[in-house]
Amino acid sequence: MTVLLLGGIAEARALAARLSAEGVDVLTCLAGAVTHTAAPSGRVRVGGFGGVDGLARYLHDERIDLVVDATHPFAARITQNAAQACTLTGTPLLRLSRPGWSTHPDAGSWHWVESLAQAKQVAEALGQRVFLSIGRQQLDEFADWTDRAVLVRMVEPPERLPQGWTLILARGPFTVPDERTLLRDHAIEVLVTKDSGGAATAAKLGAATLEGVPVVIVRRPPDPPGVPVVPSVPEALAWVLSRR
Ligand SMILES: NC(=O)c1ccc[n+]([C@@H]2O[C@H](COP(=O)([O-])OP(=O)(O)OC[C@H]3O[C@@H](n4cnc5c(N)ncnc54)[C@H](OP(=O)(O)O)[C@@H]3O)[C@@H](O)[C@H]2O)c1
Repeated sequence: MTVLLLGGIAEARALAARLSAEGVDVLTCLAGAVTHTAAPSGRVRVGGFGGVDGLARYLHDERIDLVVDATHPFAARITQNAAQACTLTGTPLLRLSRPGWSTHPDAGSWHWVESLAQAKQVAEALGQRVFLSIGRQQLDEFADWTDRAVLVRMVEPPERLPQGWTLILARGPFTVPDERTLLRDHAIEVLVTKDSGGAATAAKLGAATLEGVPVVIVRRPPDPPGVPVVPSVPEALAWVLSRR
């Protein structure tokens, strides 16, 4: 049995290791956005497929039996493409999507918004000194924030960083005390983030509450209808193994 695993986050890597240990032929596919990570267990393919038709062709040509979409909750295009390509080819598809932060004890006090554009608008009214914790791919949407103090943190440097912004390169997990220190050291007045979920980067949220920093958070895009979703690696592993 060959499983195509759409990856890009830690859960995908963990699932690849578990599947390989079970003797499953697992082919992890990565967009190639981040370069400095060790290769996952099993086979690895890097690069896009060329949209829905390209992915459907690939599933057919490589005789893929199952697909697990373990991409980031905000990687909406590949998730939609996978749903359509699997429908076209009749390939069973599972979405592995870690829980978001909507059940966090502080979630009721956050400013929930539908898009980064809306997040920008809301944050502008909340403060001049911003911790923009959204990864590195969509910084351009905030590029005209040259009149404020913007702190960004990411794993790898972005192609462009607007003038005057402060860049920190770091990979989680982060702790609440360290995040409090970060907020204080940079005199942060507002935190802008996405509902990515996961324990590794959740500490900033608790730290923001403790430091009295308002949080603006972008809701997740919806998962494609009709695709089964599991929240963690063990459930995804069980789904695959039950189809062996
Ligand atoms: N968005 C985030 O905040 C975020 C954060 C951390 C990690 N990531 C990871 O980074 C990758 C890119 O994210 P994104 O938001 O740019 O995705 P996206 O907008 O959904 O996808 C853009 C295009 O990149 C290609 N692609 C994406 N994921 C792929 C994968 N796992 N394997 C092969 N091709 C892939 C596809 O190209 P084709 O149409 O040519 O097939 C897709 O149409 C994802 O795999 C995601 O898991 C994203």
